[in-house]
Amino acid sequence: MKHKVLCAAALVLGAASFAWAVPPGNAKDGLAVYNQSCKGCHGMNGEGNPAIEKMMHVKMLPLGSKAVQAKSNAQLKKDITDGVGKMPAVKSLNAKQVEDVVAYIRELGKSGKK
Ligand code: HEC
Repeated sequence: MKHKVLCAAALVLGAASFAWAVPPGNAKDGLAVYNQSCKGCHGMNGEGNPAIEKMMHVKMLPLGSKAVQAKSNAQLKKDITDGVGKMPAVKSLNAKQVEDVVAYIRELGKSGKK
């Protein structure tokens, strides 16, 4: 009996520490966020949508490029939630969605899609 209680406690603790480990975002969830909130302007793989660039009179850096990847996670989050240059702030995302989409941007960097 005592053993069972201990096991249950270990499970609860395990689940709790997992829940605390939110920060490194989930790139897979980030893809869904990206498709919904970013793809229209940034294109399938972060390369930038030429029609939007023309309309906004701006050249977007590919999100997978070295210049963008050189930014810290904190900077990327700020770009998304406060806007950057001609990009309007994206206000519709919660904190987890922002973490996740940043993780997805890191994936774009790793996969070498420029
Ligand atoms: C309305 C179109 C639009 C939407 C929607 C949009 N962006 Fe942007 N984004 C831009 C433009 C335009 C720029 C370039 C701004 C500039 O250089 O003036 C940019 C720049 C950025 C940058 C900075 C790149 C650099 O130059 O260092 C990041 C990071 C970024 N966007 C991420 C995102 C993410 C993530 C989302 C979705 C949550 C998103 N954007 C949604 C238009 C958009």
